[in-house]
Formats: sequence, C-alpha cells, structure tokens
Amino acid sequence: MSEMSYSEAIQKASASITRFPLIPVRGVPLMNYIANNWDSIWAFRPDPSDLLVATYPKAGTTWTQEIIDLLLHNGDAEICKRAPTPVRSPFLEICSPPPIPSGLDLLKKMDPPRVIKTHLPFQLVPPGFWENKCKAIYVARNAKDNLVSYYHFDNMNLTQPEPGPSWEGGYHIQSHNVSWGSWYDHVKGYWVEREKRNILYLFYEDMKENPRREIERIMRYMDLSVSDEVIDRIVELTSFKNMKENPMANYSCVPAPVFDQSISPFMRKGEVGDWTNHFTPEQSKMFDEDYEKQMKDVNIPFRTLI
Ligand code: A3P
Repeated sequence: MSEMSYSEAIQKASASITRFPLIPVRGVPLMNYIANNWDSIWAFRPDPSDLLVATYPKAGTTWTQEIIDLLLHNGDAEICKRAPTPVRSPFLEICSPPPIPSGLDLLKKMDPPRVIKTHLPFQLVPPGFWENKCKAIYVARNAKDNLVSYYHFDNMNLTQPEPGPSWEGGYHIQSHNVSWGSWYDHVKGYWVEREKRNILYLFYEDMKENPRREIERIMRYMDLSVSDEVIDRIVELTSFKNMKENPMANYSCVPAPVFDQSISPFMRKGEVGDWTNHFTPEQSKMFDEDYEKQMKDVNIPFRTLI
C-alpha cells in the first residue's frame, strides 16, 4: 500500500476515530478494536524467517525498525523511503476502524521475511513465533523516560485514553493501567525469557550512548554483515534529527484525526533523562519506592541517565 493510500484510509476513517476504550485481554488492557479481534491475532502464524520487534510503547520501536530496514537494505536510504514505517514493518496487533488496514491485513500482503512490530507483553505474543523459532529483538527504556514519552503520546494520539489534564494531575502513577498494560510486567516478561527464546534484549539508553555499537549488535544478531561505511551511514540516517525530518519515519503518514502532531510531535525529544523535567522530587520518590517493590525479583540494568 502506498503512503497516500495508507494516509487516505485513515482520513476516510476519521469520523469513526475516537479515544477508544480499553478492554482487558487476559488482564492486559488493550484498545477495544484489538481486544475484539484477539482470536485472529493469537492465531497468527509467522514464517520462521520473520523478525519480531517487541517493545513497550514509546521505548524506541520506530528507531529500531528504521535501523533494521536499513541493515536489510545495505544502508540504502532511498529504498527505505519506499513506504512509511507501519507499512514497511506492520504492527501485528493493531486494528482500527475500516478502511484502515489492520496489521494482519498488511502482513497478509507481504512475503516473508517480514519485520513485525508488537507491543504485546511476552505472554500475549502469538505462540507461533516461538514454535517457529523466530528471531526477536526487544528494546527496553527506563521507566521514567518511557512514562514521560507515553504521557505526551497519549495526548497527541487521539485513539488512546485521555492521559488526564496534566502531568501534575497524576500520570506518573499510571505505569500499570495504560494501553498494553504494566511497564513492569512487560520489561520483566521478556527479560526472563530472553535466553530460552534467543531474544536480543536492548536498551534505549545504550542506543543513545553508542548507536554504532548497538547497530552492530543488531546486525550480528540478524546474521548480516555490512561494511563499516554502511554502518556509519545508518548511524547518521537514524539520528533523531534525520528521522524527525524523514516523512517515511516520522509518522506524518498518520494524519491529524489520529496523531495530532501539533499537540506533541511523534519525534518529540529523543533524549535520556527528560523525566527530570517532569517528575517533582516527591513524584520521583514515590515512583522509586514503587519501582523497588516491582523490580525486586529481577536485576535488569536500567539507567535513568547516561
Ligand atoms: P520521546 O517522546 O522521549 O521523544 P516508539 O517508536 O516506541 O513510539 O518511541 C518513540 C520515542 O522514541 C520518542 O521519545 C521518540 O522521540 C524516540 N525516538 C524515535 N526515533 C529516535 C531516534 N532516532 N533517536 C532517539 N530517539 C528516538
């Protein structure tokens, strides 16, 4: 599907766009369109050559998808502008009002190997991925920055529940009850399974600190080999600034009835530590106390600053 037709489909559906309610699927709150289509999502059978990119929302999914597409195309910027991110790399579970194509609709039209995005927590990933031994890359972002990013996203994504009147209104305590569920369950679910399932577990903060090193890790995991010069080019093409200006990577393909980028741009800040501009010392203390409790059973090396 071309960029025009994807954007047009969203435009056509704009009268049916609303902040959709969340319905729990096995205890995980998901948009009603996803919950209502759950049986076909769960039954999805990937090809063994398909690659899964799994993240909690706002952890760096789009950035990772762009890196992977460039690695698969030897750093060819033009080929990677063939279509917007959600068409090049479909979003497995997404379902919206017609005529917007669902993730499954887009996947049906593509030949494997495909790069498939999901925000599903580990326990909701269709079992076909593990039965077929698909590769999977998980990207995790520290809880505070992830939550700040999600807050701004929930403001501009007019299909998500309202995040409340303001950050001060208490969004900082919402890390459990948002679309796709708890950040804690998400990052822990993939962490405990990473060795058994051969999941490459990455951190947003590492990607910011040394993108070249992390791009090379992704390359090796995918059994690819590109030249140093191509890696340099991919580092450059996937910088925050370049992706923000790239209409095929900055979600300008999703028109304002869904993503109102005048409220907050999709490519918002792209930094580590923006939480310090949002959390008051009291909010931070309250958050840290809960964090300690939630994370006491694992030792995931998150960094909230670099
Ligand atoms: P911020 O809201 O903190 O700016 P996702 O793709 O999972 O929805 O994640 C979006 C977050 O990743 C946003 O964070 C966005 O700015 C950031 N991001 C996207 N591309 C990036 C890049 N190339 N470098 C750094 N951050 C990036």
